[in-house]
Amino acid sequence: MALTATAELLTDASRRGAGLAAFNVLHLETAEGIVAAAEAGGFPVVLQLSENAVKYHGALEPIALACIDIAHAAAAPVAVHLDHAESEELALRAVELGFGSVMFDGAALDYRDNVAATARVMRRAHAAGVAVEAELGRIGGKDGAHAPGVRTDPGEAARFAAETGIDALAVAVGSSHQMAERTAALDLDLIARLHAAVPVPLVLHGSSGVPDDLIAAAIRAGMTKINVSTQLNRHFTAAVREYLRAHPDTVDSRRYLAAGRDALRAEAQRLGGLIAGV
Ligand code: G3H
Ligand code: ZN
Repeated sequence: MALTATAELLTDASRRGAGLAAFNVLHLETAEGIVAAAEAGGFPVVLQLSENAVKYHGALEPIALACIDIAHAAAAPVAVHLDHAESEELALRAVELGFGSVMFDGAALDYRDNVAATARVMRRAHAAGVAVEAELGRIGGKDGAHAPGVRTDPGEAARFAAETGIDALAVAVGSSHQMAERTAALDLDLIARLHAAVPVPLVLHGSSGVPDDLIAAAIRAGMTKINVSTQLNRHFTAAVREYLRAHPDTVDSRRYLAAGRDALRAEAQRLGGLIAGV
């Protein structure tokens, strides 16, 4: 229970052939809703803060320390992870703050530079007992690595894992970030080949666009960490919109933020249960 090492949750889920829900924190209400969902649903969860979320808050420490504190007090196993860090400096600050894992996203770099930068972060993170997730392959902008047409090659992924010593690998198998509709098609055969070739847990990014049955099939084929942000955000925002529509005179922001948090909690509980198989 409480704050748990990401490596422990990854290893446990991967051994059981289950998924590990990794939900993005945008602000305090998201973290509270996600942890309440994990407690009620009886599953472990990863609270993840992206470099973009850190930029939104203007600093890592306040929101990160809040997440770590919420994880400590949780009645479910909760890990805290830095998501999509392109800045090595930010990744190292998260290591120092006590995160359980960091994702160093060197996907925009060419293969050699990605290996070198990931290995640099790895050395410092592992010395502190912090796990590292990396990403391989990148074409185009933020959307590129997980755009429907982009794929991770199993042979290159195996070589990348061996050369860096990473703990988890984000792979491109058909999903795409920030999809508002759940219509993505995943390459299940490729997931199975990546799972056979790569000795560390695989990470599915952009899972909001993946329908429920395909998330379950992807886990059966070998995916472990399932990253979701947009889908929870959609439920949060729809509830806020509805609350303000029904109560146009509202002044106290806690009223509509609570409505958003409740809706997010319900969807996180439903999706987290599906991912964890509980
Ligand atoms: O790293 C975070 C995830 O890949 C979230 O993607 O917003 O499309 O669910 P999503
Ligand atoms: Zn992602």
